[in-house]
Amino acid sequence: MSVSRRGFLQGLGVAPSARASAFIAARGHEEWVAEAQQQGRQGGGMRPNLPPGVQAIRISSNENPLGPGKAAIDAILGKFPEANRYPFNSTPLDADLEILIARLYGGKRENVVLGVGSQELLKNAVRVFMSPARHLVEASPTYGNCNQQAKLQAWPIKTAPVADGTLRTDLGALLPHVKGAGLVYLCNPNNPTATINSASEISDFVAEVRRASPTTAMLIDEAYCDYVTDPSFQTAMPLALSTPNVLVARTFSKAYGMAGVRIGYAVGEPATIRKMSAYRMPYNVNTFGVAAAVVSLKDPAHIKEESARNKGVREFTIKALADLGYKSTDSQTNFIFTDIGRTMTAAQFRDACAAKGVMVGRDFPPLEKQWARISLGTMDEMQKATEVFRSVLKPVTSTSSGKGR
Ligand SMILES: Cc1ncc(COP(=O)(O)O)c(C=O)c1O
Repeated sequence: MSVSRRGFLQGLGVAPSARASAFIAARGHEEWVAEAQQQGRQGGGMRPNLPPGVQAIRISSNENPLGPGKAAIDAILGKFPEANRYPFNSTPLDADLEILIARLYGGKRENVVLGVGSQELLKNAVRVFMSPARHLVEASPTYGNCNQQAKLQAWPIKTAPVADGTLRTDLGALLPHVKGAGLVYLCNPNNPTATINSASEISDFVAEVRRASPTTAMLIDEAYCDYVTDPSFQTAMPLALSTPNVLVARTFSKAYGMAGVRIGYAVGEPATIRKMSAYRMPYNVNTFGVAAAVVSLKDPAHIKEESARNKGVREFTIKALADLGYKSTDSQTNFIFTDIGRTMTAAQFRDACAAKGVMVGRDFPPLEKQWARISLGTMDEMQKATEVFRSVLKPVTSTSSGKGR
């Protein structure tokens, strides 16, 4: 249902959290949370208040709209009677999950560290491998967690823009920055551009970094790997198991539908993992998350179904926007990155969609004047959302913006 912007803001005005809500609606919940955390503010979990009758379609944080599979929900519910116990007095133990993960990739328990979501692991990689003299290297734009942590520590950061046209991570442009770096962060598939680098590009890059700067650590973030359909992609897990200072991070927050459960992991050589484990808070992952992760990993069919479902929704949404003349990158994820620059900025698009109850992603500098990130909900949600996109974006005649980026 559509409401006027004025009606929407009036709706916001009645609540004590009105200013926060207006901010969230205008800039995106994920950004509000990230900024709140960075500034040490409380209240990062607040939600926008929509006027009566407007059902929010939340396609802003790259979540799985269907949530965890049945086995995971049963496992979580089944653990409630043990909520009084520390995780080490419950089963399965962290160690059981670590062993299960290690076996998936042909490694040992010493190759695995668990995290409170993969964000804990990204932040800890900054703490472990960087210093005032050892900088971070990453693409621009990319997922901002390492960047935020490095900024918080006031440690140096060097970036290279994503490639013109495709918006793929430009590994060749990152390479000149790696000498003496503490950490190279590679997000593959990349958030927010939704693009991938192929297995051979990644392994060549890792080899080049090792040659140019042997003490530099690399963290390859594969948060969205379950959604990839391009056969040139392969997990970098074998590289992580065989190369010093290389880590691959994964999360149960995306395809596994457990963003609220907060569980992720990283894989690497034992010496690399030991450094990361030293920064792990005692009992960081909880009984519910461990139990749900164990059963989820034993149910690969569920992830296959989720990936196939997402592919159908992705094709539908990209086509609906292309039919209006708006081009998206080659998405390999559960979100798309669309060039809306002929009509409006990402902030204007977000405002216009929010006024109609559709919450799309935040700004991604330096591309926020032209590109918008849209997470993929269910097919039903995206049918409704694309109606809203149709009403806020003017049709354009060409399928390309012609601006490159
Ligand atoms: C690329 C990437 N890595 C890591 C994360 C963090 O995920 P979590 O901490 O929920 O595991 C996200 C979340 O959006 C992400 O997009």
